[in-house]
Amino acid sequence: MPDTTLVLGIETSCDETGVALVRVGADSDELLVDAVASSVDEHARFGGIIPEIASRAHLEAMVPTLQRALSEADVDLGEVDAIAVTAGPGLVGPLTVGAAAAKALAVGLGIPVFGVNHVIGHAAVDELVHGRFPERVMALVVSGGHSSLLLVDDIASDVTELGHTLDDAAGEAFDKVGRLLGLPYPGGPHIDRLAREGDPTAIRFPRGLTAAKDQATHAHDFSFSGLKTAVARWVEARQDAGEEIPLPDVAASFAAAVADVLTAKTIAACRRHDVGTLVIGGGFSANSQLRELAAQRCAEAGIAVRIPPIRYCTDNGAMIAALGAAALRRGVRPSALDLPVDSSMPLTTVTL
Ligand code: KG4
Ligand code: ZN
Repeated sequence: MPDTTLVLGIETSCDETGVALVRVGADSDELLVDAVASSVDEHARFGGIIPEIASRAHLEAMVPTLQRALSEADVDLGEVDAIAVTAGPGLVGPLTVGAAAAKALAVGLGIPVFGVNHVIGHAAVDELVHGRFPERVMALVVSGGHSSLLLVDDIASDVTELGHTLDDAAGEAFDKVGRLLGLPYPGGPHIDRLAREGDPTAIRFPRGLTAAKDQATHAHDFSFSGLKTAVARWVEARQDAGEEIPLPDVAASFAAAVADVLTAKTIAACRRHDVGTLVIGGGFSANSQLRELAAQRCAEAGIAVRIPPIRYCTDNGAMIAALGAAALRRGVRPSALDLPVDSSMPLTTVTL
């Protein structure tokens, strides 16, 4: 590998078209540009992502976003040494648009392409912000589609999934509770904002999979659908009685339950596996209740916690370029040029 290598990252697994450039150095990697185009506004009136709309938006945004990234970084396409693209998990149509662009660029430029795992990318992006990972880290990846606890021995090749959500992802639970509280889509950030004005101890909502009986089989797994139902019942009962809903208190009590379970289980996993560094990634790591509780509990437990700034927690090209950079550094074999996309790519697969 020459002194520095330039990796182009392409992300299209959901509703964000992300293109980023990362310069891989001997000791650290530098993010040169992170261009994102979002189709989130086009989905808002449907209350969820419509895959066909997302696919078309990616098609329209791909070339302009690539051009914007190159021009902002003042880089010629010919200077790029390798491409990383999200191969999964995600929506198959959107993934296919990104993969087609990556393959076309790889063939045209005669450079390798790595099809990488989106969820693991959410953890990898932190290396661009806080430097390369120590030998072993725990990663909590929480988004609208995933809530996974990963033991990371090598971000490019050795990731073990310790647990995941059995039903709703944390962000998904927030979005569903947001809908039942009448908040705009996506509800997550609105609940976060409301929760800051409410009392987190006002209502005692259930903590899924934290009973003694769950420890044997689901110590590191999550479940948020019971909590969501409990919030719905609580709200319905007040509505039926003609009472006003104390939205800030409901939001704060609900957000506290989610943050409590996520942090308690993650810290228990760190202790069990003797891990001193926790990385939190994914769109839901923007959540202030989670950030605050994680900082407080990790400080008490002597665990260093690394959370990237919010703009790197939501979907972007930087996370994919970061994982591609790690794969390149580790000498991981590139993907075949006919690399498939895998909408349910398992977390055991870092690169295809
Ligand atoms: O990672 P991401 O951008 O997309 C997925 O891959 O899912 O995550 C988006 C999810 C949505 O469910 C959104 O409501 C949630 O993260 N989210 C939040 C906050 N910001 C984004 N949830 C709670 N509090 C926030 N501040
Ligand atoms: Zn994501």
